[in-house]
Amino acid sequence: MPSIHLPRNWRIPEKDVTPEQVYLDRRRFLRAVGAAGMGLLAPWSLDKTSIGVADAADAASTELAKVFPAKRNTKFAVQDREMTREDIAARYNNFYEFTEEKTLVATLARNLKTRPWKVEVTGLVRNPRTFDIDDLLHEFAHEERIYRFRCVEAWAMVVPWAGFPFSELVRKVEPRAEARYVRMWTFLNPEWAPNQKNSDYPWPYFEGLTLAEAMNELTLLATGIYGHELPPQHGAPLRLVVPWKYGFKSIKSIVKMEFTDRQPSTFWNQLAPTEYDFYANVNPKVPHPRWSQASERLIGTRERAPTTLFNGYEASVAGLYKKP
Ligand code: MTE
Repeated sequence: MPSIHLPRNWRIPEKDVTPEQVYLDRRRFLRAVGAAGMGLLAPWSLDKTSIGVADAADAASTELAKVFPAKRNTKFAVQDREMTREDIAARYNNFYEFTEEKTLVATLARNLKTRPWKVEVTGLVRNPRTFDIDDLLHEFAHEERIYRFRCVEAWAMVVPWAGFPFSELVRKVEPRAEARYVRMWTFLNPEWAPNQKNSDYPWPYFEGLTLAEAMNELTLLATGIYGHELPPQHGAPLRLVVPWKYGFKSIKSIVKMEFTDRQPSTFWNQLAPTEYDFYANVNPKVPHPRWSQASERLIGTRERAPTTLFNGYEASVAGLYKKP
């Protein structure tokens, strides 16, 4: 069996990852220069020009305007932290298909074509279906939820996602009694995503949840962020959000889901089984083999804060992991 190399960048210990503040200071400088040169721009138009929203024409379409901004569900709020600024979240991404360099993802991911886009739902279900993304947008009632987001690299942010509960999709396809897990895949297209030519990785990206996790009320299928459609770098046009787990579980740009009776393998677990487990629940007491998970950097600030068990969602999810 060929040995799989752990890609170089993933090996960098958390403390050596490019200090995000250096990047932010540069960004603030560029914004100041840009604003001076262009006159005063509305924050939204500045974000659009600088962040690269998927398809400006689509974003303007009346169809999308029916969905975004989605009504905020205030049940899902974050009380003790400020929301991360959009321009910061949109320029500090992990999307290995494009590049291993966080600050370059937004630029490279502009090549991602999000229309037409199909999502096949198959496996142990009574109603297998292939959804067109525009049908998904209209068939499922969308809402906005503000969630904490915690990457395994020990940085964190607070994000307003828009989407619908995964449980709604599960109800629609009706899993059979034997179904216990759901496996998900990202697109495979090295013409769009240059790092998919890098054979160090087992493309396409794949992830999985237990059916009980997928049914949990926190588990969201997101199509939007910050009041509009997802831009490519955040995983357009459909991504998973599981806020009590490390961010690598939240697979981007989903094209396929399969309900199965076996625990699926996952992209990072296949690459480094001793570092990334299937469950990947946020836990300050379980260090990553190469760094501590006891605290986290809040991106967009100079703060560090203690990590909380299940990323602060213990009350909603601890029951999933209690032994009977
Ligand atoms: N999904 C795919 N397809 N490819 C990836 O590289 N990275 C994961 C996750 N989903 C990743 C992915 C990781 S490690 C993180 S932290 C989050 O996406 C980052 O999401 P964001 O860039 O929207 O903040």
